Amino acid sequence: MIKLTPSLLAADLMNLGGAVGMMGRDGLDQLHFDVMDAHFVPNLSFGPDFCRAIHRQHPDMKIDVHLMMDNPQNYLDEFAQYGASSITVHEEIGGDLAGMIGKIQSLGVRAGMSVKPGTGVETLLPYLDNLDLVLIMTVEPGFGGQKFMPEEVEKIRFLRRAGFRGDIAVDGGVSIQNAPLLAEAGATLLVMGTSYFRAEDPSLVARFVKDLNA
Ligand code: DX5
Ligand code: ZN
Repeated sequence: MIKLTPSLLAADLMNLGGAVGMMGRDGLDQLHFDVMDAHFVPNLSFGPDFCRAIHRQHPDMKIDVHLMMDNPQNYLDEFAQYGASSITVHEEIGGDLAGMIGKIQSLGVRAGMSVKPGTGVETLLPYLDNLDLVLIMTVEPGFGGQKFMPEEVEKIRFLRRAGFRGDIAVDGGVSIQNAPLLAEAGATLLVMGTSYFRAEDPSLVARFVKDLNA
């Protein structure tokens, strides 16, 4: 089963209600929420209060929090309390990653780990048994609207060959052009910012991804 997860970064932030409403009409129940700290990545985005505001307004919308930040351990409680349904941290931050996965799950939230394009996917092997989700970055994290890096697709195949049965999300430059390839490789969550929210007809994009399951 492959699912579309629109990325808030590309939505019209002055009309967030409209953006989430459109997702609902398109049968989409999960929103990707990028957190950037201007240190781990060269950009700033949304914080926990914004997550809470969305959750209050749209309690049924799953919020898939992608922490592109140093010291994410300091924010896990807050995001869990404010409605995150999954929280993904980056392998590159190092430290007690196993402890962080355990902490996220102890808060009743699905735990994910992500690798940037320059990071080998084999670095995730020690954690695979405990992860609910792996997020493969197919652009350098930090900005929406970048070009998809096809060489990263092999990482998805590697994870499936290694026996990983959790969700594999793909993030960065994902579109209906590369969606079939990603589905075939074993991805289950397609994060789309630009390709959904800025599409001429987002509903068509949603239908296209849904039909990949047929
Ligand atoms: C990039 C973010 C993505 C971003 C993807 O660092 O993690 O979630 O929103 O945007 P698009 O789909 O436009 O590449
Ligand atoms: Zn993201």
